[in-house]
Amino acid sequence: MAHGRLNNSTSGLKRSFSDENRKPDAFGKRQKLSQHRKALPIASVEKRLVEEVRTHDTLIIVGETGSGKTTQLPQFLYNAGFCGYGKLIGVTQPRRVAAMTVAKRVAEECGVTLGEKVGYAVRFEDVTSSSTRIKYMTDGLLLREALLDPYLSKYSVVIVDEAHERTVQTDVLLGLLKNVQNARSKVVNNHQDTKNTKTNNDMQLDKENGSQSLSFLKQCQGRNPLKLIIMSASLDARIFSEYFGGARAVHIQGRQFPVDIYYTHHNVQDYLDASLTAVFQIHIEEDPGDILVFLTGQEEIESVQRLVKERLKQLPETSQKLVAVPIFSSLPSEQQMQVFAPAPDGFRKVILATNIAETSVTIPGIKYVIDPGFVKARTYDPNKGLSSLNVIPISKAQALQRSGRAGRERSGKCFRLYPENQFEKLEDSTKPEIKRCDLSSIILQLKVLGVDDVIGFDFIDKPSRSAIVKSLEQLYVLGALTDECKLSDPVGRQMASLPLDPIFSKALIRASETEFNCLEEMLITVAMLSVESIFFAPREKLNEARTAMKCFASPDGDHLTLVNVYRAFNEFSEKRSDLSKEKHEKSLRKWCKDNFINSRSLKHARDIHSQIRGNVEQMDLHVASCGDDMLPFRRCLAASFFLNAALKQPEGTYRALANGQVVRIHPSSVLFHEKPECIVFNELVETNHKYIRNTTRVDYLWLHELAPHFYAMQN
Ligand code: CDP
Ligand code: MG
Repeated sequence: MAHGRLNNSTSGLKRSFSDENRKPDAFGKRQKLSQHRKALPIASVEKRLVEEVRTHDTLIIVGETGSGKTTQLPQFLYNAGFCGYGKLIGVTQPRRVAAMTVAKRVAEECGVTLGEKVGYAVRFEDVTSSSTRIKYMTDGLLLREALLDPYLSKYSVVIVDEAHERTVQTDVLLGLLKNVQNARSKVVNNHQDTKNTKTNNDMQLDKENGSQSLSFLKQCQGRNPLKLIIMSASLDARIFSEYFGGARAVHIQGRQFPVDIYYTHHNVQDYLDASLTAVFQIHIEEDPGDILVFLTGQEEIESVQRLVKERLKQLPETSQKLVAVPIFSSLPSEQQMQVFAPAPDGFRKVILATNIAETSVTIPGIKYVIDPGFVKARTYDPNKGLSSLNVIPISKAQALQRSGRAGRERSGKCFRLYPENQFEKLEDSTKPEIKRCDLSSIILQLKVLGVDDVIGFDFIDKPSRSAIVKSLEQLYVLGALTDECKLSDPVGRQMASLPLDPIFSKALIRASETEFNCLEEMLITVAMLSVESIFFAPREKLNEARTAMKCFASPDGDHLTLVNVYRAFNEFSEKRSDLSKEKHEKSLRKWCKDNFINSRSLKHARDIHSQIRGNVEQMDLHVASCGDDMLPFRRCLAASFFLNAALKQPEGTYRALANGQVVRIHPSSVLFHEKPECIVFNELVETNHKYIRNTTRVDYLWLHELAPHFYAMQN
C-alpha cells in the first residue's frame, strides 16, 4: 500500500496523555472512573451548563466527539435536581448500540445496576424500571412512546443526541418535540393562570387524549415545561438554532491532537483487502496504539475479523499479538462492551466498526484510523418506489470525523484508502436521511400522532412532495389509509402499533387471516428478514458453505429456507436442553458454525421473534401454522409483498412489476439457478447490477387475485 504524506489537517491543544484507561490502578475501578470523568472537557463547565439549561427551555450543545456530552450531561442534570417529582431525563440516540453501551457506562459511573437509576430501551429490548431516572433510548423508540403519551409527560428533560446524524427519526422527533414543548408550556401557563382560554392546538390534544390530558394537567401544576436539549458533534448549530426560533447554542471546547493523514496513490480495487493490508502494516511497523477500521456492515466486519485471524497465523510466534473486536448495530449486548475494554497485555487491539464509531461511541486507546471511505446507506427512488441498501462514498464531514478519532488522546495517524483527489470530490456533508428514504413508516406514525396534513408538517428539512405522495400511495395500497388519506381502522392502527416496516406489519396481519393461517411462519420470516446475513459464506470455504446451505434450501425460495433454518435450530436447541447453560450455548454456536450460519444474527432474530410474537398476541391476531403444506404461506407472501413482484424476461433477468426496473436474482438466493417465472422479493441491492434478495416463487395469477386494487391501479 503506497501512502503519500500530507500535512497535519487537524491541530489542537498539546497535552501529555496519561494512559488512564488502559492500566488498572490501585484506587480501584470507581476512583479510576471518577478521575476519568473529572478529566473530560465537559467537566470544567458543569455549573455553567446546568445554569444554561435552567435559563433556556431549548438549548443546543455542540462539542467534539469524546468531550463527555452523552455520558456526563444527563448525570449533571440529575444531580442538579431535574428529576424531581419522579420525572425522567430521556436521551435519544440514532443507534441502538450507542444507547445500550452508553447506558451501561453511565450505570457503571453512577455505581448502580443497569436498569435501575440508569437504563435503556431500544426496539425489541427494554432495560428500565420504575426507578429509572436517566433513560437512554433510540430516537425511534421515543417517537413510539409519543403514540401512547403524546405530551411525553414522564420526561422533564429530553436530550436529542447526535442530531447532526439527521436520521429520519431524529428529524421527525425534533418536529414532534417542538409541538410537545409548545403544548406543555401552554398547558402549564393556562393552568397557572387558571384561565380557560385554550388554543385550538391544546383543545385538539385534550380532545384526543381525554383523561390522560386531565391527569397531566394535575401533574403539571406549578411545574416547568419540557426542557429540550439538542446535542451535536458537528460545528453547524445554526440549522437547529433557526429551527427552534433562534434557540441558544453553546459550544464545548474539546481537545484534539494532531493527526497525520495519508492517502493512497491510486484507487484501491478491493477495500477489504486494502484494509487488511493496512492493519498488518501498522501492526508490524508502527508504535503501540489501537487501530480503528471503518467498514460498512456486519457482513464485512465479520469477514475481515476472520481474515485477520487467518493472517495472524502467518506472523512469527515472537511478534506482538493482535486482537480484533467488532462493533456494529445489531451486536448482541454481551459482546458490545468488549470494544471498550483495553486489549490484554502484549496485544494490540484492532476495532472493526461501522460508522457508529464516527461520533456515536467513543472508544479509548485509538491511535490509528483506517478509512476506506465508504458507508452503507439506504436510498430511495420515489419515482420507482424502490428502496435499496447501497455502499456509497462518505462525505468530507464524515472523513474528518473519522480521522479525528485518531487524535483524541494523543497524536495519531489516519490512512485513507483513496487518493487525495478523491477526497476533494466528496460531498461536503451527508444528505439528511429524510431526503433520501422511503417515508411510509414515518408517515404512518405521524398519522397515528394525529398529524393528518403530512405535507404541511414543520420538518426541519422538508422531504420532496413526490416522495410524500409516493409513500401515501404505498400506504393506501397496503390498506393502512382510506380513500380520504385517513388512517384506516383497524388495519392502519394495527400496522402502526407494530415496530416494523409497514410492509412487514401488513404481512403479519394478512398471515393471521383464515385464508392463509400461517402467522407462525410469517413471524419467523419477518424476524429473519429483520437481521443482516443469516448465512455466512467465507470466500475460502464457499463450496462447503453452499453444501451446508442445501440442507435447508427450499425449492420454493429464500423465505421458506429461512423458516427451515429457524426451525432446524430450534429443534437442535431443544434436543440439547438437558445440557448446562454454558455447554448448551457452546453446542448451539458449534451447530451454527458447522452449518455456516451466523449465530449472532440468528440470536438477534430469535429475540425479535419473541418480541413481535408478543405484539401480535396482544393484538389478538390468530397465531397458527399452515403445517406441512406451504402453499398458503407462499400465497400469503404474494399477498403481502405484491409491491415487490417481478416477472422473468427471456434473457433470464427480471422486470419489477411495479416500475419496470430490470433486476437480477442475487447469487446467494436459492432461486439463483432455477429462475422461476414469477417471484416476490424483499430487498434490492445495487452493486454492478441491481440484485434482488430474499425471493420466493409465486404464481402470477395470485398477484391479481390477492392484490386486485394494486394491479387495477397499475393498469
Ligand atoms: O458524547 P461525547 O462524544 O461528547 O462523549 P461521551 O460519549 O460522553 O464519552 C466520554 C468519555 O467516556 C470518552 O472518553 C469515552 O472514551 C468514555 N466512554 C467509555 O469509556 N465507555 C463507554 N461505553 C462510553 C464512553
Ligand atoms: Mg456522544
